[in-house]
Amino acid sequence: MTGSPRPVVELHGVSKTYGDVAALKSADLVIRRGELLAVVGPSGSGKSTMLNIMGTLDRPTAGTVRIDGYDIDRLSDRELSALRAGTIGFVFQQFHLAPGVPALDSVANGLLYSGRPRGERRRLAESALRRVGLGHRLGHEPHQLSGGEKQRVAIARAVLGDPPLLLADEPTGALDSRSGAVVIELLHDLQRAGTTVVVITHDRDIAGSLPREVRIKDGHIEHDSGIVDGLDSIDRRGGTPGALPLAPLPEEAVR
Ligand SMILES: Nc1ncnc2c1ncn2[C@@H]1O[C@H](COP(=O)(O)OP(=O)(O)OP(=O)(O)O)[C@@H](O)[C@H]1O
Ligand SMILES: [Mg+2]
Repeated sequence: MTGSPRPVVELHGVSKTYGDVAALKSADLVIRRGELLAVVGPSGSGKSTMLNIMGTLDRPTAGTVRIDGYDIDRLSDRELSALRAGTIGFVFQQFHLAPGVPALDSVANGLLYSGRPRGERRRLAESALRRVGLGHRLGHEPHQLSGGEKQRVAIARAVLGDPPLLLADEPTGALDSRSGAVVIELLHDLQRAGTTVVVITHDRDIAGSLPREVRIKDGHIEHDSGIVDGLDSIDRRGGTPGALPLAPLPEEAVR
């Protein structure tokens, strides 16, 4: 195959205002399949706003957003939910694990509305937990896990359906540097396996260690180190643009 991998995220002139706050100002950003990218910037600069727009959790005030080839303006809320469910995994600073729920169930519950039988949900969850190095902690509840382990459970849940795009908002923000390094190494592993990964971080060392760095200030992208060469060797899944089946989901799956 020739040429660059096709974009999984395209933002063109994207702005977001909240009342009189301009959180994001005419952002242009193209992220190709297989990239691992850091988004850095001061508090309040618009990083989470941009990630939420990429994640289709929020619609922009102006501009065009294409995710995996789909112009999100042309999708209904229901279609957008289907696109999100099939394409995007999310990881946040706070791990969002329900208290008292064992790791295996926390992860398997991510497939509750997938139509898969319980046994298969648990098998897939177990293999996702093994993938993040937690095969020996399947029955542990959140209070029995370290911070780094909790974040790895959250990552296992996010990558369960093997989404092509993983969005992480300060995934190491609540971790000590050693646990943070394990999480970042895991994100590298996911990228090597073909996942496109976008990480918001305050940590300059982490940002500097990733292949691409985008800096935001006052809602502007003020620096982009740009796409790196060599992505052609990366496994590209997903076929041609528009190939994603947007099959209607059961009502309860539309979040
Ligand atoms: N729902 C909202 N309503 C009003 N203002 C908002 C809303 N969400 C964000 N903002 C404002 O938009 C700006 C950008 O916020 P955003 O959360 O994107 O910053 P950030 O770069 O992620 O910051 P941090 O590093 O502290 O997480 C901030 O000034 C914030 O106060
Ligand atoms: Mg933020």
